[in-house]
Amino acid sequence: MDNFRRGISGSSIEFLGPIVRKSAEPGQRRRLMDQAKHLRQLHKIIGKNCARPIEIKKDSYTMEYFPGINLDVYCTMSTQQTAFFRLKEITHLLWKKLYSKHKQSFDTLKYLKYLKKRTQEYGALGEDVSKLNLALLKLESLFDGHTVLENLNAGLIHGDLTFENIMVTADSFFLIDSNPNPHNGVAPWTLDVGKIRQSIFSLYEITKYTGHRSRAGLKTTYNYLADRFARLFPRWNERINLQSEFFEASHYIRLLDYKYRLDSSLSRAYYQRALRLLKKITKSVKLLKK
Ligand SMILES: Nc1ncnc2c1ncn2[C@@H]1O[C@H](COP(=O)(O)OP(=O)(O)OP(=O)(O)O)[C@@H](O)[C@H]1O
Ligand SMILES: [Mg+2]
Repeated sequence: MDNFRRGISGSSIEFLGPIVRKSAEPGQRRRLMDQAKHLRQLHKIIGKNCARPIEIKKDSYTMEYFPGINLDVYCTMSTQQTAFFRLKEITHLLWKKLYSKHKQSFDTLKYLKYLKKRTQEYGALGEDVSKLNLALLKLESLFDGHTVLENLNAGLIHGDLTFENIMVTADSFFLIDSNPNPHNGVAPWTLDVGKIRQSIFSLYEITKYTGHRSRAGLKTTYNYLADRFARLFPRWNERINLQSEFFEASHYIRLLDYKYRLDSSLSRAYYQRALRLLKKITKSVKLLKK
């Protein structure tokens, strides 16, 4: 029997000694190729802390095997302080090598329109999306080229920086499974921060683990990280916080239809959190305009 991990999103991972092969089913090949090219670009900048696709074929790519564990698994076994310092090391290194170099511009209005489209796609599954749609429209109506969410500095980012996609050893880390879409790999760094927020603040990471003890321990660690969230980053202020909340909300919206197929209660929880965040952000954007 073939022994490889096949994911629901249509990709599979095979460990072949020192290398790993990631392959995709026909409908997902474009996405995999975009990922391979994007990882190569990231590797050029980040170096050994990022996977480097070696051989890219039309339905697969290979990369070096990284002998570590996923950061979410690490968090189930580390003290809260250790988890905090490990994550801080990672965000600081990414800031230094990647985010601090950002000089391009980002079209937030175009991204917002894309979010409205994704909301409609979720609605097509039979879910009521009217509240979310209204919240997105309200936020859009505030856009005038000068809000806190516009004219953001952008550059190459990872795009799917969840704890699952950060592999760690005792003294190193390795990024895998990036996502350059829909912004072609170029977006504000707060989009990556929004993904880290998702790992810490959404239910998903915690509900993946069964067993009362590991779940309770993980909750304590994530609460600790949440309380000190601002201190994880070398730069922080109210505007950065708002932008990262906006991108966190956007990640939930982007995941609604996919999560619905796995677990509809999770997609409903994501919907509610996105809605709450968008309402809060809209209020703050208004206040900052005054
Ligand atoms: N280069 C690697 N070295 C070690 N382990 C790896 C490597 N690449 C992937 N893995 C393991 O396989 C898991 C799945 O890989 P990956 O994150 O790329 O795919 P996925 O999340 O299933 O994919 P997708 O969402 O793109 O379909 C990772 O979480 C990690 O545990
Ligand atoms: Mg992954």
